[in-house]
Amino acid sequence: MGQTFKLTLLLFLISVSMAFSCGNAESLDAISKPSPEGELIFKKQCALCHGLTGNKQLSGAKKLTESKLPTNEIEALVTNGLRQMPSFKERLTIEEIKLVSDYAYQFRESK
Ligand code: HEC
Repeated sequence: MGQTFKLTLLLFLISVSMAFSCGNAESLDAISKPSPEGELIFKKQCALCHGLTGNKQLSGAKKLTESKLPTNEIEALVTNGLRQMPSFKERLTIEEIKLVSDYAYQFRESK
């Protein structure tokens, strides 16, 4: 077994492990799109007031289909709450708040 073969093998292993870490980076990027996780959190935490289609207005909840808020402001609102809208910072992780905010954002496109 020559030196070149060992080197090739080493390079191969490195590229495999790099492919893996890129794969992970890609799945982190995918978080900015509406996700099944976001949908699940929405159903559990938000649908009570906002409804499954974002149009219910229990206790003065705003229609998510007509919201003009960008996702970062939705995240801030979900984190801190506003008037009748509860704060979720004790109940959800930052990551979950991102997921559910992206999910809440997409209602306006599916009008
Ligand atoms: C207890 C009922 C209730 C629950 C549960 C609830 N909301 Fe709300 N939400 C409200 C109310 C009420 C408002 C209006 C707040 C205001 O402007 O006074 C609101 C407003 C909003 C808005 C702003 C809409 C706009 O453009 O003004 C967004 C976005 C939103 N909620 C998302 C969510 C998400 C995401 C969740 C789940 C993590 C959630 N809400 C859970 C009651 C609720």
